[in-house]
Amino acid sequence: MKTDLNHRLARPVVLTLLISLATLSGMKADTPLEKNMERMKKACQELSLGLEKPQENSQATYLTLAGIIKTSAIEARDLVPKSAAALPPDQKAAMIKSYKESMGVFVGSVDGLIQNIKDSKWEEARKDIVGLKNEMKDGHREFRKDK
Ligand code: HEM
Repeated sequence: MKTDLNHRLARPVVLTLLISLATLSGMKADTPLEKNMERMKKACQELSLGLEKPQENSQATYLTLAGIIKTSAIEARDLVPKSAAALPPDQKAAMIKSYKESMGVFVGSVDGLIQNIKDSKWEEARKDIVGLKNEMKDGHREFRKDK
């Protein structure tokens, strides 16, 4: 009888615990910059895939995806990487300046990609994607020190 009561009490407690755990794991504390990066990643992956076998009638979709990369990069340029917080003030200012410059160059590269998509220069557009990925690697090596 007593065990039965214990079981009945235990069930809602376990359920509540499980729900709390699920909620907590869903609450990934993304920074605004991380959110922009995730958006950029998704658009870049879809665009890379599309450009493997480009279709003239998908040009508008490619332009939309490249547009998402550009808007996200412009927004990202005005945000501050997490790794800046650990730096002394003088180094922090220099890092933020350098980060903004790199992101500005990246935006310029995305403009090149957009132009090549508009001109249906698919081979060039694929090269642009490789270039963006290299800029990503350099950017992460320099400014994403937490990973
Ligand atoms: C195609 C280009 C790029 C893609 C797909 C990309 C993707 C990503 C992803 C997936 C993350 C992790 C986000 C998370 O933890 O949720 C990230 C983080 C980060 N990326 Fe990029 N990235 C790109 C270009 C760049 C460039 C050009 C720079 C710098 C100039 C940069 C700087 C950073 C920084 C600083 C972080 C850490 C976020 C923070 O400090 O809050 N990324 N990126």
